[in-house]
Amino acid sequence: MAPTRVLIDTDPGVDDAVAILLALASPEIEVVAVTAVAGNVPLDKTALNARRIVALADRHDIPVAAGRAEPLSAPVVEDSVVHGRDGLGDLDWDEPAVALDPRDGVELIAEMIGRGPLTIVAIGPLTNLAVLVQRHPGIDRSVAHLVIMGGASFQGNVTPAAEFNIWADPEAARVVFDADWPITLMPLDLTHQAYLTDDDLAYLRSLGTEVGRRVAAMLEPYAQFHERWYGNRDVIMHDAMAVYELLDAEAIEKQGVRVAVETDGVHSRGATFIDRRREHADSLVRVGLSVDNDLFRARLRERLATLKD
Ligand code: RIB
Ligand code: CA
Repeated sequence: MAPTRVLIDTDPGVDDAVAILLALASPEIEVVAVTAVAGNVPLDKTALNARRIVALADRHDIPVAAGRAEPLSAPVVEDSVVHGRDGLGDLDWDEPAVALDPRDGVELIAEMIGRGPLTIVAIGPLTNLAVLVQRHPGIDRSVAHLVIMGGASFQGNVTPAAEFNIWADPEAARVVFDADWPITLMPLDLTHQAYLTDDDLAYLRSLGTEVGRRVAAMLEPYAQFHERWYGNRDVIMHDAMAVYELLDAEAIEKQGVRVAVETDGVHSRGATFIDRRREHADSLVRVGLSVDNDLFRARLRERLATLKD
């Protein structure tokens, strides 16, 4: 079976890094481009981090471009208590051998859509995708599949009501959910079921590869954040769920839904209302419900181990 053509839109981000490496290590996927968006840290840092991760996997063939620096109508997030000041756990990095592609990130997405069936994996705020459909009316109907990490049902992480990717640009999220493309959404309700443990970090270090060392190293401060925030060191692999969906469509249980985004609430801005009533069973939008974490961890270990120096 031919690999799925995939463009990753991202705000690296430690869990973005793991998701991107999983995609690059998986034969089911052909990553044709990576576009950065402002999110966990400002765009200059997310674009640099995307280059670092693609270079870490030695994939100099993949264009990395910068998209939007500012949300449609929300403030830019300057620092991340979750991902470190540089957005990747504040390790020491050499200048990446992967240069920044000079093309505008949003236009690179449009170009890749024009070249044939494309799946977009969106694992940061949805600003780039909102600007894409605003600039190119109807282009959403040419996208084969859009897999989004974002949203939550009656819970949040950046606020009690909102998940970060939606909260960081709720106006963009509303544009994206109102557009006409098949969406699979991986909300916190699902992603909190997928996490790595200290055994996995030890496994990564035991690989003796640069990928293993660096992923384990960037996950350490992420684990310390989890211990402060959730009381344990299990590191939640939010973004990897959007990639895992493309490795095995049966691995994550899903159902049809309708999604509404709150943009005006004083306490609820960025909240998603995921309507699972039966009338939406055949909706173009599906939500991930459950995943077997042991199977996910085993697959992630197997794939990251293939990324040799
Ligand atoms: O809420 C989790 C999401 O916010 C992930 O994409 C993570 O990288 C952060 O950006
Ligand atoms: Ca992210």
